[in-house]
Amino acid sequence: MLITFEGLDYSGKSTQVRLLSDRLTLQDHHVIILREPGGTEIGEKIRKMLLDRTNTEMSEASELFLFSASRSQLIQEVVLPALEGGMVVLCDRYYDSTTAYQGYGRGIELDVIQTMNRYATGGLVPDLTFFLDIPIREIEKRISAAKTNKDRMESSGMEFYERVREGYLQIAKNESRYRIINGLQPIDDMHELIYQQVTEALSTKR
Ligand code: TYD
Repeated sequence: MLITFEGLDYSGKSTQVRLLSDRLTLQDHHVIILREPGGTEIGEKIRKMLLDRTNTEMSEASELFLFSASRSQLIQEVVLPALEGGMVVLCDRYYDSTTAYQGYGRGIELDVIQTMNRYATGGLVPDLTFFLDIPIREIEKRISAAKTNKDRMESSGMEFYERVREGYLQIAKNESRYRIINGLQPIDDMHELIYQQVTEALSTKR
């Protein structure tokens, strides 16, 4: 089973992925956690290029190709073998990130994005996708509280994030695999909601 987590930067996805993984592992599920971009040797090199703040000249098309290249590598090297082995694959971002960030955020035509996504993934669609939704003003707060240097993507500005969030909400409307989770809730409450949905999905898949 392939479960993906989507949301804006600082939405708390990684914490939820970890909590879910720990709980499923305790119940003897074989779980693997992946993150995008990255997760393979080639993918991690691509990740560095994508997030490097000094790469100010990167074109929108290059950005799209690089995210897609990292994804293609991950699917081929890790995701497909894991799914064939019956594992539960938890992915911190997947192709909806490309639709939301490069499509809605940067403004690349959505049919180009869709073709690219399909090609990079070989048509592998998640069974379930959680969108952790937080308002833009909360992201602003979290970014300034983090006090780390913004990476290249995080330097795109709050209007960019607003478009990305609208993009996610649009995708969620069209995809029945989507579950929107209010990201302002306490961490444990979010986890409980996510866990229940996953348990239900795992039992119907059997
Ligand atoms: P990362 O540090 O992994 O952020 P997060 O913890 O929020 O996932 O950085 C990934 C960045 O790349 C993030 O800003 C989202 C962006 N991104 C895209 O723009 N398109 C994509 O297809 C993917 C996978 C990520």
